[in-house]
Amino acid sequence: TIAYLNGEFKPLEQAQISPMDRGFLFGDGIYEVVPSYAGKLVAGNLHAQRMNRGLSEIGIKVLAEESNWVAIAEGLLARNLDHLPDQNVGIYIHVSRGADTKRFHAFPEGVKPTVFAFAFSIAPSAVPDRTQAKGLHVQTQEDLRWRRCHIKSTSLLGNVMHFQDSFGKGINETVLYNQDGMVTEASVSNVFAVIDGEIVTPPLDNQLLPGITRHILINSIRKDGQYQLVERQITLEELKGADEVWLTSSSKEVAPVVMIDNQAVGNGVVGEVWEQVAKSYHTHKF
Ligand code: PDD
Repeated sequence: TIAYLNGEFKPLEQAQISPMDRGFLFGDGIYEVVPSYAGKLVAGNLHAQRMNRGLSEIGIKVLAEESNWVAIAEGLLARNLDHLPDQNVGIYIHVSRGADTKRFHAFPEGVKPTVFAFAFSIAPSAVPDRTQAKGLHVQTQEDLRWRRCHIKSTSLLGNVMHFQDSFGKGINETVLYNQDGMVTEASVSNVFAVIDGEIVTPPLDNQLLPGITRHILINSIRKDGQYQLVERQITLEELKGADEVWLTSSSKEVAPVVMIDNQAVGNGVVGEVWEQVAKSYHTHKF
């Protein structure tokens, strides 16, 4: 496996960083996961924009010549596709504030950010078919993370704990709600529901990540014009009473949910609306 570290492509085993790196000591950094199929990146430019927005929000400056995220992702694809033979590849890109000489909370001066990236296999992108698709089982929990969830922080302990709680029970994901009982997102994905014939998803704010898959799906639903799509708050009760529920992320694309907290969603099988919008997502994603 060839990885990327601070301007150079090199074997992953040779990619080394200091234990004083603030990514390691503080989780002080942000990341992206860009999916690709048969060597083609999905929305590379949107992932690059989100990375740049996040960097400016947390005050990390990467040299222009080292922040061509699409070129880094394509460079990794070119060097790794031969030994990732299924051709479904995720690119992880990580920027941390860099290695300081001491452990002090304030941003250090004159420290060079660490830029690291590597390629890994992801699930194939199957043609959506509701008779074949396996619906996910999820549980719900109050969101116990922080209040800057729009930043794609590498400090993922909150997400990891919510995800592990479901994984340990043999469940696929944990859908999160805030103190007002409104659904925000899930531990590694965004949430959509079909309620009274309308597709709904929580509006963007500091409580959820502005998912790229969410963005592409919303645009493709609006282009097709067959269904109404509304960005609005969803109560936990509404979610549990929805006809369909889906999760979106770069690694799972648009995934149908059939069980929430041990109760069937709708009639307990993968829905028709999912099949149509997931097909549409596939035609619009590149
Ligand atoms: N996770 N919300 C959270 C908390 C996420 O971690 C993710 C993605 C999403 C979906 O965003 P996108 O559509 O841009 O992938 C929403 C990535 C894939 C991960 O951490 O592996």
